[in-house]
Amino acid sequence: MKNFIENLPKAELHLHIEGSFEPELMFKIAKRNNIKIPYDTVAEIEEAYKFNCLQDFLDIYYQGAGVLTSEQDFYDLTYSYLQKCANQNVRHTEIMFDPQTHTERGIPFEVVINGISKACKDAEEKLNISSFLIMSYLRHLSEEDAFKTLKESLPFKSKIKAIGLDSSEKGNPPSKFKNVYKASVKEGYIPVAHAGEEGNADYIWEAIDILGIKRIDHGNNSLQDETLVKEIVKRNLALTVCPLSNTALQVVDDLKNHPLKKMMELGLKVTINSDDPAYFGGQVNKNYIEIQKALNLTKSDIYELAKNSFNYSLLEDEKKQQYL
Ligand code: ADE
Ligand code: ZN
Repeated sequence: MKNFIENLPKAELHLHIEGSFEPELMFKIAKRNNIKIPYDTVAEIEEAYKFNCLQDFLDIYYQGAGVLTSEQDFYDLTYSYLQKCANQNVRHTEIMFDPQTHTERGIPFEVVINGISKACKDAEEKLNISSFLIMSYLRHLSEEDAFKTLKESLPFKSKIKAIGLDSSEKGNPPSKFKNVYKASVKEGYIPVAHAGEEGNADYIWEAIDILGIKRIDHGNNSLQDETLVKEIVKRNLALTVCPLSNTALQVVDDLKNHPLKKMMELGLKVTINSDDPAYFGGQVNKNYIEIQKALNLTKSDIYELAKNSFNYSLLEDEKKQQYL
């Protein structure tokens, strides 16, 4: 089964580039930029990566991202993730990045986007991996701030495929971003959003009805509402599920109790993803391997999940066919 998973071509649709920042690279870049981080060893970092909830994680995640300053830093971070994709037979990836995490610290938008997109271009040529970028608005900040980010992104529109919504979910409902989503879609960006990770089913209703999202990041709490599940199935919206993230952030207490199989049985279109692999203990293949073991998934289930990853990607239909 492990070999089967490792050899299967797959796409990753839910990955935060700042969450792929491995400790070794973080130490290297912090040193290069003369920035002090509160850890001296990988063991100390691993000790700090114990989370009770999403906010616990986010506090540490933003601190880690704070060492990224130059275009080269963003390039190295992204290329390092793409090399891991190559080793896992990930043929296509849709990478989220959080511009506000960096522009808030005075790093220009163009430094972030140029570093990330150059790495993607090189990986396309050298590693044969295609990628799209999803610019994610931080939901703990204001809609006005998101509008500022939208404006900054416009000169780089050709490099960005979609917009996302991430960070602290509770207390920051999708409706808060109604106007900026509308404006972003007008600019040609495809809307997706985190919904129902910690927030309840109402947040998912808002994300699909008010923001008009084309894919739901996480979506675990859709299972609270039968009518919502039926509606998601009817609208053919996929869920980008992240098993190891769910246990690391205590969204699910044990992988054995993960709702993934139930989701599939209900007809929901599910994909497997790593979310923030450097923080949650595993890249995408490990997510497949661990959830397969925990839920006793069959080869046919695994094949369906990998197939969904291409089918519900933002690739053009013609491109999808190459992988299916
Ligand atoms: N930012 C990075 N990872 C996230 C997650 N799992 N949920 C919300 N925001 C995030
Ligand atoms: Zn996420």
